[in-house]
Amino acid sequence: MKIVSDFLVIGSGIAGLSYALKVASHGKVVIVTKREISTTATSLAQGGIAAVATTQDSFEQHIADTMEAGAWLPDESVVRTVVEQGPKAIEDLIEWGVNFSRKADQSYDLTREGGHSQRRIYHAKDETGKEIERALVEAVRVHPNIEVFDDHVAIDLITEAKVTRRRLKPDRCLGAYVLDRKRGEVFTFGAGITVLATGGAGKVYLYTCNPDVATGDGIAMAYRAGASVANMEFMQFHPTTLYHPLAKSFLVSETVRGEGAVLRRQDGTAFMAQYHPLKDLAPRDIVARAMDNEMKTHGDDYICLDITHRTAGYIKDRFPYIYETCLSYGIDMTREPLPVVPAAHYLCGGVKVDIDGETEIRNLFAIGETSCTGLHGANRLASNSLLEGVVFGSRAARKSITLQADGFPPFPSVAHWDSGSARNSDEEVIVAHNWDEIRRCMWNYVGIVRSDKRLVRALRRVQMIQEEIADYYWDFYITSDLIELRNIATVAELIIRSALKRKESRGLHYTIDYPELDDVHWKRDTLLKKVF
Ligand code: SIN
Repeated sequence: MKIVSDFLVIGSGIAGLSYALKVASHGKVVIVTKREISTTATSLAQGGIAAVATTQDSFEQHIADTMEAGAWLPDESVVRTVVEQGPKAIEDLIEWGVNFSRKADQSYDLTREGGHSQRRIYHAKDETGKEIERALVEAVRVHPNIEVFDDHVAIDLITEAKVTRRRLKPDRCLGAYVLDRKRGEVFTFGAGITVLATGGAGKVYLYTCNPDVATGDGIAMAYRAGASVANMEFMQFHPTTLYHPLAKSFLVSETVRGEGAVLRRQDGTAFMAQYHPLKDLAPRDIVARAMDNEMKTHGDDYICLDITHRTAGYIKDRFPYIYETCLSYGIDMTREPLPVVPAAHYLCGGVKVDIDGETEIRNLFAIGETSCTGLHGANRLASNSLLEGVVFGSRAARKSITLQADGFPPFPSVAHWDSGSARNSDEEVIVAHNWDEIRRCMWNYVGIVRSDKRLVRALRRVQMIQEEIADYYWDFYITSDLIELRNIATVAELIIRSALKRKESRGLHYTIDYPELDDVHWKRDTLLKKVF
């Protein structure tokens, strides 16, 4: 089966949905999403979305905070563009039906997170992402030009070079091959414009607060198709996920610290003052590294996050979701500190794009966590990512409409997916084993503190697994698990190779071999591109 549209969006978080809503009046939009439409990282975002909102604040301060958190690697012109479009992005969300929390006087209740010098974070209590996703999904569902394919996972991009078997520079994207997970069939999705909005890749690590869908699909597909990827070494570890055997790294929002919570050793000592003047609200890389150091120095399995000095009424009203979830694990945060540890949270690198989200491959865009726009640099400032999703969703939409006006060439006759001599696998255990091995290896060797020796060891392991996957891939019918395994292996390799390239410590990339910042040689992006 062949499905042709003007705009093919792969992924259904804030970036993909806001893009779809912006282009929908200009043509047919198809959204392909791996599970149910709301199974996204956006839905799990607790904290909020940053935008300048008060007269005490200014664009200049938001820009300065972003540059500092990003260890001076962000592209300042991109930061300025995103920050200045922040208020409009909030307006768009409100227009689409998002209800942000308000104070008694009906003004918006702005909160704080690490690295922010001002209260500028719009939130919907502690379930901001869920509220945003709800509103956008409702708007998408009623739009006559948007069709959603749930339970469909993209396998690979279709490009002109692939179809014509010629080397083309630049190449052009024509759509994607997509697996219908329920029927087990592969379909051809042709499109004038293809947009990668598949989110991040937290599942590359053993411990992550990301949803199961975060397997770096868009990044892996773009890399395989020949697009450059940038800054993959900068995986952000969120400092505070719940330490509990059943909690699956449940996120405890940074806004809890924004409202006064303090990190303590298990003996009750607060320690962040030793690490940064902003103490518990220092940028995330600094907090996660401090916690890692404290746990290693004192032989502790976890750090305590203490907000018990606030009243129970306040905590229950401001953080109802976190309070109830922790209580379901037997921990009452109004009376006792929460045991927390860092976990993989946000990939600051991704597919290299320009200021409109365009990749190096014509008619292919990447937006949201899948992309590397230049906004985050070496460490993302909290709550800048939802903002980036809306701003780049909108910019990419505007550019796509311009390209459409120039005319999309007709979709060529493309060979259907060929399963060749593939057969049903009787060795699914290989997929499960390799998943686990990659994630464990990344956690142990490519984590918060790195060394060349560990990185080289990790690269060797991952490359061996990739060889095994390649054999397996062509022998057996394709499954969703196999597609995701191939993608996490590719992303793991990209993270390790980027980390090996960067011979300094900056932001989220800390290596004991090069512990200092090296502005002379390394104040630049790390780029990787497939050689054909
Ligand atoms: C949080 O609520 O701590 C996460 C927000 C973010 O990562 O921007």
